[in-house]
Amino acid sequence: MCGIIGCFSREGCYEKLMEGLARLEYRGYDSAGVALLSEGGIAVRKRRGGVNALAGPPLAGQTGIGHTRWATHGRPSDANAHPHAAGKFALVHNGIVENHAALRRELEGQGAVFASETDSEVVVQLIARLYRGDFFAAVSAACARLQGSFALAVLCADRPGEIVCARRKSPLVAAAGGGALFVCSDVPALAGLAEYVCPAADGEFVRIAGGRVFFCDGEGKEIAKVFSRLPEGSRAETGGGTFMEREIAAVPRALADTLAGLRGLDFAPCARALRAAKRVFAVACGTAYHAALAFKDAAEREADVTVLCHTSSAFRDRAPRIGQGDLVVAVSQSGETADTLEAARLAKSGGAYLLSVTNAPHSSLAALADFGIAMRAGAEVAVAATKSYNCQLLCLYALAAQLAFFRHARFPAWYRSLGALVPAAREAFSAFPAVQALAARLAGAKGMYFIGRGQDAVTAAEGALKVREIAYRFAESCPAGELKHGTLALVEEGFPVLALATERALAQKCENALAEVKARGGYAVLFSQYEEVLSASCADAAIRLPAVPEPLMPAVAVIPLQELACSLCLLSGYDPDRPRNLAKSVTVE
Ligand code: AGP
Repeated sequence: MCGIIGCFSREGCYEKLMEGLARLEYRGYDSAGVALLSEGGIAVRKRRGGVNALAGPPLAGQTGIGHTRWATHGRPSDANAHPHAAGKFALVHNGIVENHAALRRELEGQGAVFASETDSEVVVQLIARLYRGDFFAAVSAACARLQGSFALAVLCADRPGEIVCARRKSPLVAAAGGGALFVCSDVPALAGLAEYVCPAADGEFVRIAGGRVFFCDGEGKEIAKVFSRLPEGSRAETGGGTFMEREIAAVPRALADTLAGLRGLDFAPCARALRAAKRVFAVACGTAYHAALAFKDAAEREADVTVLCHTSSAFRDRAPRIGQGDLVVAVSQSGETADTLEAARLAKSGGAYLLSVTNAPHSSLAALADFGIAMRAGAEVAVAATKSYNCQLLCLYALAAQLAFFRHARFPAWYRSLGALVPAAREAFSAFPAVQALAARLAGAKGMYFIGRGQDAVTAAEGALKVREIAYRFAESCPAGELKHGTLALVEEGFPVLALATERALAQKCENALAEVKARGGYAVLFSQYEEVLSASCADAAIRLPAVPEPLMPAVAVIPLQELACSLCLLSGYDPDRPRNLAKSVTVE
C-alpha cells in the first residue's frame, strides 16, 4: 500500500526515480508524484492516476523523492497525491498516522493551512513547525509525536544532497549501486537500479547525506549495518502479455527454483521446534491464508499434529495465549503484510518459535522469524498472487513432511515426488485452450460458485478469490458437502458451479453434488486428473488436470483456475495487474 522511493545521484536522479516509481506501482496506482531538490528549491509534480500521468519534461536535481499511492485518507486526487509540501520541506509517506486528526487541529490552531485531506500532510506540517535549522532533529522530533505506522522520506530545501527517512512498522530499505543511493519501500523495485541493499529495522532512521547512505537512531547516532547483494530473482517476469499472464507462465520455473532452494535448506536449526511444538499455528492473509489452510490439511494428515489456522487479522483480534513451546508459521509472499507482521510480532512476544515462509528474503517478516523458508518465485508484480501460491504450497508441503519426519521419524510417501510438480505445472498449460473457452462461456455470468471436498475445498476458495479480485464477479466457494445446506438455493438456470475432484475417495460425492446442481439447471464444470471421474461425470464441461501424487494436487489444480480468472478478466476488458481498489502489499491494517 503506497510505495515510496528516494534517490541521490550526482548525474541527476529524475530518470532513476521514475524507473523505481514505475516498479513500485503495484503497491498503489491511484496517484503518483515526485519532488526534486535543486538550487532553485524543491519542485513537486504530482497527479491523480498512474506513474504515466507524471509525463513531462525531466525535473532537475540530484536529490529526489517519489510516491505511488493507494488512498487511505482522502480520495485519489491531485491535491491528495504525495509528495506533500510545507515550508522548506517535501515528504512522501506510506502507512497510517493514527493521531492525524488531533495533530491537524493543533497545527491549524497554530496557523498551518492544509492543502490536502491526507493524514500524511500532517507530518510535513509538523516537521516545518519543529524546524530550528537542524533537518534531522526536526524529522526525529516529528516522528516522536506520531502514532501509527510510517515509512517516510523527506527533503529539506536547506540541505541539498540530503534525504531523511524514518521507519515504524511500514517497510523501508536502503540501497546503493549504479552511482546512486536509494531508499525504497521494497527490494523488487530496485532491481536493475541498485546492487546492494539493507533493510531498516523498526524505529530506525535512514539518511542520505555527504554522498553516502547510513542508518541511525532517533538521536542521530549512527548504527553499523551490513549491506548485501540484491537477491537474484528480484526482477519482474519479462515477455509479452500482462504481468499476471507472465507470472502464470512462470509457475514451472518458480517451482523448480523453489525446489532447488528447499533441497539446499537445512531444517536442523528448527528441528527442536518442529519436534516438540505443543501447538502449531499458521497465520496469513488472502491467498497466503489458503496456502496455510493447505498446510493444515497436509500437516494434520502426515504429521498427526493439530494445526490452528487463522487469518492474521483474526489471530490479532483474539490474540490466543501464545507461549513458549508453540510454533507459529507465518506465510506471506511479500513478508510485509501489516496484519501478518503484527500476528508474527504477537507470536514472538509471547515466546513462540516463529517460522516464516516468504518470497522476500529482506522483508520484515523474514527478519523477525527464527527460521525462514524462502520461496524462490521471483518478483511477483500482478496484484493477484499466482506463482507465489504454487511456491507457498510447495514450501509448506516440505514443511509438513519435515514435521512428520521430526515427530514420527518418517517422511510422507509423496515427499520424494515434489519434483513432479514442475513438469505437471507445465502440462497444466495444455488445458488452457479449454479453460479459455470456458471463460468465454462464463463471461456473461454475474457470479459463480466453486466447490470441492477435502483438499479441494481450499483450491475452490483460491479460485473464487482470483475471480472476485480481478474479474469483478461475485464468486464464492463452498465445501461440496455443504452445498445442499443452503447455497444450492442460489443455483438457477445457467448458474455456473465449478467443482474440483482430485481426491479419488471423495470424487463420487463431489460428482453427486454436481448432479444436484445439474438437476436445478446449473451449469456444471468439473476439474479432475482422473479420466474415469471426468468421463462418468454429468458435467457440462470437464477439464483434465495433470496427475501428481494426490496430496500434491492443489499446487497443480489451481493453475487452470488462475488462468480462468485471468481470461475472464481480459475478456471483460479489465487490467489483471491492477485490479480496482486493491494493491499488492497490504502494509496498513
Ligand atoms: C492474492 O491474490 C491477493 N492479492 C491477496 O489476497 C494476498 O495474497 C494477501 O494480501 C497476502 O499478501 P502476502 O502474501 O504478501 O502477505
